[in-house]
Amino acid sequence: MTTASAFKHAMRHVPTGVTIVTSLRDGEPRGLTLNSFASVAVEPPALLVCVNREARSYLYISSSRIFCVNVLAAEQRHLAERFAGKVRERQFDEVAYTVDVTGAPVLDAAIAHFDCEVMEEHHVGSHSIFIGAVVGCTARSGTPLGYFNGGYRDFGIRAE
Ligand SMILES: Cc1cc2nc3c(=O)[nH]c(=O)nc-3n(C[C@H](O)[C@H](O)[C@H](O)COP(=O)(O)O)c2cc1C
Repeated sequence: MTTASAFKHAMRHVPTGVTIVTSLRDGEPRGLTLNSFASVAVEPPALLVCVNREARSYLYISSSRIFCVNVLAAEQRHLAERFAGKVRERQFDEVAYTVDVTGAPVLDAAIAHFDCEVMEEHHVGSHSIFIGAVVGCTARSGTPLGYFNGGYRDFGIRAE
């Protein structure tokens, strides 16, 4: 097995998009910035996210069994920062959103969203992998927010 620092160093060289994964428990929305997101299957439509079990969001997703992956546009960098720990309470104050099937927030201006019901949860070390059955999704044109080498990036690409 390699060391944690070698692993972290190599992972810094992996470019990703940035999402905010939202959930809803007892009528209270919660979200976290997350880039461990991947498609799993098309039949049935399924994806995965990896969530630290020490994150407050973990409790929301594991108990409500719903989450929504919001793929951020470049102009939503301030939301990525906000949902990565800067705002502890009233996270969604002045954040515009609607809902789809599950009731988890769908952020206005996200370039795609995937509304999910939890199919499976697997514990791996500090994190849980949630496999979500996608019950609703949309996409719109825009420039995605990127993340690479510890910083937010504009990869100079655009989805139509
Ligand atoms: C670019 C970026 C990607 C992140 N990806 C993840 C991730 O995949 N899983 C995770 O658990 N935390 C991830 N985080 C950290 C969480 O956003 C952060 O711990 C957050 O404060 C958790 O909030 P909560 O405790 O209110 O749920 C990421 C942070 C950043 C800035």
